[in-house]
Amino acid sequence: MKVQPLTPIIGAEVSGLDLCHLTDRQFDGLSDAFTEHSVLFFRDQDAMAPADQVAFAKRFGPLHTHPAAPTLAEQDEIFVIHAHKDSKIANGNGWHTDVSCDEEPPLATILQLHLLPRTGGDTLFASMYAAYETLSETMKAFLLTLKAHHESEHIYRGRYADRGAADEDKVYPRALHPMIRTHPESKRRALYVNPSFTTRIEGLSKQESDALLAMLYQHQQRPEFQVRFNWSRNAIALWDNRCTHHFAMWDYWPEERKGHRVTIKGERPYLEATKEGSAPENLRLSRQL
Ligand code: SIN
Repeated sequence: MKVQPLTPIIGAEVSGLDLCHLTDRQFDGLSDAFTEHSVLFFRDQDAMAPADQVAFAKRFGPLHTHPAAPTLAEQDEIFVIHAHKDSKIANGNGWHTDVSCDEEPPLATILQLHLLPRTGGDTLFASMYAAYETLSETMKAFLLTLKAHHESEHIYRGRYADRGAADEDKVYPRALHPMIRTHPESKRRALYVNPSFTTRIEGLSKQESDALLAMLYQHQQRPEFQVRFNWSRNAIALWDNRCTHHFAMWDYWPEERKGHRVTIKGERPYLEATKEGSAPENLRLSRQL
């Protein structure tokens, strides 16, 4: 197993593993690399059968069920990512972390793309550890006291109607989460608001909330915090929704892009007030930014 970091902050490419037949020792190595780099990419894989992708995902824990997305008939844990010339939307075409509107948002997501446009269709990922760690101490101290509302009706209502996902009787999840969350494994803190699901900060006026969120969205989208993945056929991305954001670039219309996504159940985001993990030496961002 070879782990090649792609930036000093986030992302590594992993080679030399067959994800359908991992030994426990290989899985432990992969888990360590995942905690360290937040997003892992695997290029040297065959197309995974849906059951194999689900089995791989279950090694991380029980799976998460998406509240709205169209799934595969024969394997309903799989969310089919698909955009083509008649699509009205392309999933993930805006900065977000997956389903943060859930009380227990997914821990991680595994996406394999089987069909790619000739060019474009990259996915960008950003480190929310770096976003938190580069704020001033005064701003960090303020954010540590705050919670924000995450909602979903404005995103999910009617979104997948043309793909057979009905909206009647649907309950659109919403949740109140700490704005800074502790990662349960690394113990590092991450900024946990995103422009897709976060609607307002609890306890602030609308004007204050809008202004603070706008500043944080601008900050968390800095290119220094990002890695950009240029997909190859059957490549796989595994990302940590607790400490990253991503943006699936829909720059390839009218071409087609298709793949299978599985999400792993996470826990309720929390902030551990007394203990904070620090970035490993090799992943520390210069405070000069
Ligand atoms: C997503 O947000 O899950 C979609 C990511 C992608 O299609 O690259």
